[in-house]
Amino acid sequence: MAEAVILKSLTLKNPFIASSGTCGYADVDFIPLDKFGAVVTKTITIKPRAGNKPPRLVETPAGLLNSIGLQNMGLKAFKTFLAKFEKPTTLIVSVGGESPEEFATILRELSTYDLIDAFELNLSCPNVKTGGEVVGKDYAAVSNILEASLNSSKKPLLVKLSPFTEQLEEVLDHWESKVEAFVLFNTFPAMDIDTQSGKPILGAISGGLSGPAIYPIVLNSVYKYSKAHTLVASGGIVSANIAKKFLLAGAKALEVGTGNLWNPLFIETLIKEV
Ligand SMILES: Cc1cc2nc3c(=O)[nH]c(=O)nc-3n(C[C@H](O)[C@H](O)[C@H](O)COP(=O)(O)O)c2cc1C
Repeated sequence: MAEAVILKSLTLKNPFIASSGTCGYADVDFIPLDKFGAVVTKTITIKPRAGNKPPRLVETPAGLLNSIGLQNMGLKAFKTFLAKFEKPTTLIVSVGGESPEEFATILRELSTYDLIDAFELNLSCPNVKTGGEVVGKDYAAVSNILEASLNSSKKPLLVKLSPFTEQLEEVLDHWESKVEAFVLFNTFPAMDIDTQSGKPILGAISGGLSGPAIYPIVLNSVYKYSKAHTLVASGGIVSANIAKKFLLAGAKALEVGTGNLWNPLFIETLIKEV
């Protein structure tokens, strides 16, 4: 039976967290979300977004390629949704934006909701102004968002980084004492091509790779940085054995995304076997 974990101020009844984008707004009924230590909502942006053009999901030999984009109902509708929502477990709301001000606005408006336990900043959001680079591209970009976010949020902040964050070590070292935890990592930029048509399969051409293909890369970073940092591992946890590797590498908690999509009852295996 998996035991409770404490990140810094946040206690989870077990180390397993359902990842953003794989369990709706923490409201899907085909996954037993109440069994998780916490659940992260789909990333919320100020305005509603329709997401990318289809096809948006492709299976590859060792992982799932997605280009859902930031499809979500937007801040206003999410507040209406929250008014009647009964959370299944500890609730973490994923927040996205294209500028520090957008992050700050969402955090300010949602900080008044008692049922939200923490926020997760999605620093892999594409920034249209810089040609689609992730908003948390490097130390300066991450720092600008974190300064604005820490001034605006009344709840603990988890910071979910892109795997290609430049000056990652500086980011971790400088902000460790001010955030609840870092989440390593979001999906890895990737694509696939249909050999019949000769064209990219995804409507958006590129997407993000998740699933077992990425776990050894994520494990490498978690092992390297876990001695000095509070880390939540995210990437390729699709078996109890892989989950154990991340705990051995020093992760305090584990996010599970593709594992839930492949097997909606995966959490039961994790609780029993890890
Ligand atoms: C269909 C799908 C949608 C996702 N949407 C989001 C999202 O809105 N925000 C976010 O931060 N991550 C999103 N992710 C990334 C996951 O939260 C997770 O970090 C990533 O898939 C790696 O973990 P995994 O290998 O366990 O799936 C999405 C992943 C998938 C597969």
